Amino acid sequence: MQATDSAGHGTQSTTEATRPAADGATTGAAAGDQFDFMVVSNRLPVDRCSSDETGCEDGWRRSPGGLVTALAPMMTKTDGAWVGWHGAPDETVKPFSHGGIDLIPVQLSTEDIELFYEGFSNATLWPLYHDVIAPPEFHRTWWDSYRKVNRRFADAVIRHAAEGATVWVQDYQLQLVPKLLREARPDLKIGFFNHIPFPPPEIFAQLPWRRAIIDGLLGADLVGFQRSSDAGNFMRSARRFLGASVKQQQVHVRGADGETTHIARAQAFPISIDVKQISELAKKPEVIERAQQIRRDLGNPKTILLGVDRLDYTKGIRHRLKAYEELLQDAKVTVEDATLIQVASPSRERVEQYRLLREEVEGTVGHINGTFDTMESTAVRYLHHSYPIEEMVSLYLAADVMLVTALRDGMNLVAKEYVTARTNNDGALVLSEFAGAADQLKQALLMNPHDIDGLKDTIMRAVNMQPAEASRRMRAMRKQILDHDVDLWSSDFLKALAEKVVRDDS
Ligand code: G6P
Repeated sequence: MQATDSAGHGTQSTTEATRPAADGATTGAAAGDQFDFMVVSNRLPVDRCSSDETGCEDGWRRSPGGLVTALAPMMTKTDGAWVGWHGAPDETVKPFSHGGIDLIPVQLSTEDIELFYEGFSNATLWPLYHDVIAPPEFHRTWWDSYRKVNRRFADAVIRHAAEGATVWVQDYQLQLVPKLLREARPDLKIGFFNHIPFPPPEIFAQLPWRRAIIDGLLGADLVGFQRSSDAGNFMRSARRFLGASVKQQQVHVRGADGETTHIARAQAFPISIDVKQISELAKKPEVIERAQQIRRDLGNPKTILLGVDRLDYTKGIRHRLKAYEELLQDAKVTVEDATLIQVASPSRERVEQYRLLREEVEGTVGHINGTFDTMESTAVRYLHHSYPIEEMVSLYLAADVMLVTALRDGMNLVAKEYVTARTNNDGALVLSEFAGAADQLKQALLMNPHDIDGLKDTIMRAVNMQPAEASRRMRAMRKQILDHDVDLWSSDFLKALAEKVVRDDS
């Protein structure tokens, strides 16, 4: 961090004003502080909470989702700042430090949350980018709010970025930020990473503001994706909707005067996890003991199956429950022998599709348990909570079979966490081929979750897998992840961003 005087760009920050740094946090960046490295994402790694909520410590808890899981470890080791929303509506919070990271909060009003976050981000883009599993809604008021809020995030960066700084913008909520930064601060190195899939042009075509989104992303020097198919989809859309001339996944981007401002590149960088943290936790006696206690508390079933997801319609929880219910009906599994633990962490609860999903999932769980439970044993132990990472690792250790049945998922870090936690090389991973993780975890039991019979067969293969086969598969998957942890992901991206690119147009 470079401490500077008021020569910083822009005017007074919305983050400076009223609220002192919250409990449990130390005062961080001041108004004029500038940084050589900045990450910007919709969410900060911590969320405001009240002390009666699970996982809440000193007014803050870890934010949900894979983005934070992946970026937080890198940021604790970096001398940079993280710009993002702190999770509470209408609350102005001063810059502060938490867990060793300098955080610069951006305020969202109740209206911004409704239109920008719940609306355009999570009821337009999210379903559109996930194979239209739910129908996306298109509203001009949501789009106006998306533009306005993207401008606010860009302004916060512009104020705090040192001359020539590297800025790494994250995810679908902020796709206009790269271009806004480029226009105001051509001195910056701008990277963007999309944590979720990028849809094929045939689906992206539905978006009324498709040109502005592509244009916004092309403001970056490097646009990173989870899979090479996502990078290909993006470049095909750039060609189709902006008439860009794409060569080797690169585009010459021109300014208003027609002059080339920079070359934008698209490339895949599959994200990963903090392998060291999970491996160390998995060896802690208290974490191992807790895993054994979980099994005892469930009545010592022979097999524990586990699902861990944000309660999101992309995760295929309904398909998983359907397959499991049929296995119980067919007496392929019994409640005496097996229990399915389903952790469904609360998510986007005011968005209609998420409300409907919760009703449906909870109705189905109630129906399954009502039909199959006995006084002693339960079919599905359903937990609508989020848990600290220690408890998650205990669950991974307790689970003989992990079920990741996403209908579409950018990566799915839960799959990678499970494999990393299995330090004894046992356990079986059932993994959807529609999760980005399937590209790396090729020794998982891969399946198509839409095919319920196929899913049932795959679950049974996992339940009955011989130790030698389980060990062979788990070893190979663990090697892949141990060799590709999240530090490598971020350093690969930042190295590629720093490279000087010349495009041969001959
Ligand atoms: C996914 C997205 C993230 C998002 C997270 C949690 O991982 O890629 O950008 O932050 O879900 O969702 P939420 O809407 O609670 O931020």
